[in-house]
Amino acid sequence: MSINKHISHSEQETENFAAEIAAAHPHGAVIALFGDLGAGKTVFARGFARALGITEPVSSPTYTIIQEYPRPQGGWFYHLDLYRIANSASALAFGVDEYLADNGDYSLVEWPERIADILPPGTLRITIRHLPQDGAREITVD
Ligand SMILES: Nc1ncnc2c1ncn2[C@@H]1O[C@H](COP(=O)(O)OP(=O)(O)OP(=O)(O)O)[C@@H](O)[C@H]1O
Ligand SMILES: [Mg+2]
Repeated sequence: MSINKHISHSEQETENFAAEIAAAHPHGAVIALFGDLGAGKTVFARGFARALGITEPVSSPTYTIIQEYPRPQGGWFYHLDLYRIANSASALAFGVDEYLADNGDYSLVEWPERIADILPPGTLRITIRHLPQDGAREITVD
């Protein structure tokens, strides 16, 4: 298993890094995006979506749980925010497993700890951590 660390100094750098990750996974991916409140998970999701050709605004789906974005080249980008979901049983009750299928689409999950027990084996795990310096984040990929 390879672990890769990246330092971002700004919102824009986090978006750019997310775009590189998207480009490195041309056949779809499930991305579990760990990080505290305000770490930059939604910023990452926006950069990721841009790299997939999505031009719609990408904001936090906290109140809707899932936002579905069609990709211009076909397929979907799903942005999930499970902050308000208690556990995998509640997530399965709304059909989260359909979003975790390995079918060429992209699913990016904020607060993936809620469904840690059902994340598929190939899930890409990314963690964003606040660094003491203003606007700096450490992004770990494994
Ligand atoms: N290097 C950076 N990368 C990403 N965001 C940054 C960075 N520096 C500062 N920020 C700011 O941090 C905030 C990150 O907010 P964002 O909504 O992406 O967090 P989040 O992890 O999705 O939080 P939540 O758990 O509440 O959904 C934004 O206001 C952004 O401008
Ligand atoms: Mg968010």
